[in-house]
Amino acid sequence: MNKNFYITTPIYYPSAKPHMGHAYSSIIADFFARFKRMDGYDVHFLTGTDEHGLKIQRSAEKQNIDPLEFCNQISKTFRDLSKTLNLTNTDFIRTTEERHKKSVQHLWSELENNDDIYLSKYSGWYSVSDEAFYSEDEIEDLDGVKRSISSKSPVEWIEEESYFFRLSKWEKPLLDYYESHPNFIAPESRKNEVISFVKSGLKDLSVSRKSFSWGIKVPNNNDHVIYVWLDALTNYISALNYPDSSDKLFKKFWPASIHLIGKDILRFHAVYWPAFLLAAKIKLPQRVYGHGWILSDNEKMSKSKGNILDPIEIINQYGLDPLRYYLIKEVSFGNDGNISQERLEDCINSDLANNYGNLCQRVITFAIKNCNGEVPKNIKFESEDLLILNRYKDNLSIIRDKIDNQDINFYIDFIVNSLFEANKYFNDQEPWKKKENPLRLNTIVYTTLEIVRKISFLLYPIIPQSSIKALKIFDLKENDINLTSLENNEFLLKESKLNKIDILFKKIDKNND
Ligand code: ME8
Ligand code: MG
Repeated sequence: MNKNFYITTPIYYPSAKPHMGHAYSSIIADFFARFKRMDGYDVHFLTGTDEHGLKIQRSAEKQNIDPLEFCNQISKTFRDLSKTLNLTNTDFIRTTEERHKKSVQHLWSELENNDDIYLSKYSGWYSVSDEAFYSEDEIEDLDGVKRSISSKSPVEWIEEESYFFRLSKWEKPLLDYYESHPNFIAPESRKNEVISFVKSGLKDLSVSRKSFSWGIKVPNNNDHVIYVWLDALTNYISALNYPDSSDKLFKKFWPASIHLIGKDILRFHAVYWPAFLLAAKIKLPQRVYGHGWILSDNEKMSKSKGNILDPIEIINQYGLDPLRYYLIKEVSFGNDGNISQERLEDCINSDLANNYGNLCQRVITFAIKNCNGEVPKNIKFESEDLLILNRYKDNLSIIRDKIDNQDINFYIDFIVNSLFEANKYFNDQEPWKKKENPLRLNTIVYTTLEIVRKISFLLYPIIPQSSIKALKIFDLKENDINLTSLENNEFLLKESKLNKIDILFKKIDKNND
């Protein structure tokens, strides 16, 4: 079986520093990367910054800085954020890197050689903020300003010589591809949007600009720079050293397992990108998943709207793992979700501090007092113990399958229910009343410890630092975490000493501010 997994985030515009929306996509991608890694996959996880185009050129001009210098500064804030978010990305690509330029120009030449590119003239609406062309019926007049109906960003009229990609030619092949690969676009609702967009007819796409210079030059015509989306999308293969076909990375990891993106850029990933790839005879990624938006006061959080929440501030106030947990749990994956500090605090108090943190502390404190501070070895499982222990084994293949379908909601519900059951088990079994029956007492403690171990493994992709901290109870390390061991109810028998650990999550006093 192929145990390689390649996941990507969008490469973000370094036009301003990152906000919670960017953190969201990156954290979700990291969740999948960690899950797959703990399931024995070799994971390649790519993120980065998208640095060319008019949007960036204008942002740099506004500050009177050379565009590359401008990108150097802001790209670094994205790279730093990856560290702050504890992402396990294996690469970080910048589209201003030489490796990327070479790749983009090669792809361009392939398209040109296949007669998929021709020179003509473009006239139409363009949104610099979205770096997107819009047709007349995709724009509206709002207070005297023409804007895109979907993104609300202002559009301007452009007229210039431009190269075109024969997108119209790929309308039928794309529709055939969607039909023969029903899982290519997810979730289902997004797929339907894409299909109806393509069915409404595809016009050829302008893929170069002449009126500014901040971009990758069109091979053999230095007057033109390549359209920033053709440039940007290529990052997914330039990071694998395309077109060097002898290269191990490309062979191993292409086609990507999943491009994780926000629904705002679905059209680029589910229509343009596959069309470019079909034209260049390169395999298509296995899945494009367009997740929902983080809203703030029911509006998409975005720098152009000015309603942004700074992830760094939230992390400084509450810690990273609470933020990761909150975003993964409370924004129902696939849908939009409002975020609020109130709900974040509830999550910390009830799920993290009460349900998880408390379970860990209770069982370790009890074991240290009553079991010599060691993993009890003399045990005999009763049916009620096996009932709760086997829940993990019995659901393992379901969990794998759900994750392969990006059903994060199932995963988190499974964990929340497991925590609830584990606490209930410990309460109902009343080990403190079993001091005359050491075999039973030991078995209850052992069972609860096994469950803490299993839940901590499952929590690892969500709250890695806290999971690793909890596993110190057993002297287990990050490398010991693996999904298959959820089948094993006797995993801890090979461990001996139990260690006390610090409080995992501090409760927030909600009356105190
Ligand atoms: O579009 N909620 O970059 P970008 C959730 N450079 N996710 C959000 C979000 C929100 N409110 N706001 C942003 C670009 N995102 C291009 C991509 S890829 C080849 C080129 C996330 O800086 C989400 O993933 O505008 C969205 O698709 C992405 O950031 C857009 O980032
Ligand atoms: Mg954007």
